[in-house]
Amino acid sequence: MELLIDKVSKKFKDKKAVDNISLELMPGVWGLLGANGAGKTTLMRMIAGIMQPTSGQVLYDGVPIQTLGEGYRDVFGFLPQEFGFYPEFTVKDYLAYVAALKGLTERESRRRIRELLERVSLTDVYNKKIARLSGGMKRRVGIAQALLNDPEILILDEPTGGLDPGERVRFRNLLSEFAHDRIVLISTHIVPDVEYIATCHAIIRDGRLLATGTTEELVRLVEGKVWSCTIPARAVPEYESRLQIISLRNENDGSVSIRYLAENPCNDISVPSVPRLEDLYLWLFPQGGVENPKRTSRKKGGIHR
Ligand SMILES: Nc1ncnc2c1ncn2[C@@H]1O[C@H](COP(=O)(O)OP(=O)(O)O)[C@@H](O)[C@H]1O
Ligand SMILES: [Mg+2]
Repeated sequence: MELLIDKVSKKFKDKKAVDNISLELMPGVWGLLGANGAGKTTLMRMIAGIMQPTSGQVLYDGVPIQTLGEGYRDVFGFLPQEFGFYPEFTVKDYLAYVAALKGLTERESRRRIRELLERVSLTDVYNKKIARLSGGMKRRVGIAQALLNDPEILILDEPTGGLDPGERVRFRNLLSEFAHDRIVLISTHIVPDVEYIATCHAIIRDGRLLATGTTEELVRLVEGKVWSCTIPARAVPEYESRLQIISLRNENDGSVSIRYLAENPCNDISVPSVPRLEDLYLWLFPQGGVENPKRTSRKKGGIHR
């Protein structure tokens, strides 16, 4: 099973929301990372077949998805970012309604809903109205509806918002179990949310694919660029003004431990720090996604542009 995104672009008037992206998705959990406005939702809609690319195409096992029609919908599950619920429906009725839309028989639908409610830990609230659920519970209803037809391809647009730490762990376990032999694509701008869930990542900025690879491969790109040291609290503003600080931690003795990104250490007390995926993301998005002219021509390793 393979999903091929082949030179896909989407233009809205003068704005290129997605710019010539090519990506081959194999079974496993994929993270689609990028700041707000990077083009994640637009790309996912085109993969879902609910938006036509301006150019390029998406192929499922070598066949363009437009020509698959209903057949594609049968193997596809989607949780949109702006997910419209029917607040007056109970969880059970809502899922039964979606199951009917997806063409499940009543018997299949009952069995599947029971199984899914258990897997997303919603069994206790299945008779409650959706309007009365917490944000995290609503997310889980959204995840359950995307899984109803047991899809081979599952696309989740920013699914981790509103989940508490316990729910995150359950969500991760659910997906790891599910992803065996299936393609799961999860978008987010919060890197730690997918760092351990996804085995591969695609990072996009300004509609362009910037880097792809496993967590280990991507993290290697910032190896030797992450440093840490402990400085007096009064020195923090000066360090902040000249360094890209990743994190600050106040120590008990009044000093501050800092982690920062730089080609070279900024003083002789800095030691190399083990890089994480978030460090690469901050390296690529130094101003949280605003283009940095100095970094647009970076070509090393798995970075494509
Ligand atoms: N329907 C649309 N009409 C015009 N511009 C759009 C539309 N949808 C998205 N865009 C623009 O395309 C860019 C990418 O948006 P989007 O795909 O939603 O990014 P993300 O999901 O990464 O935040 C943004 O600049 C956004 O304003
Ligand atoms: Mg989006």
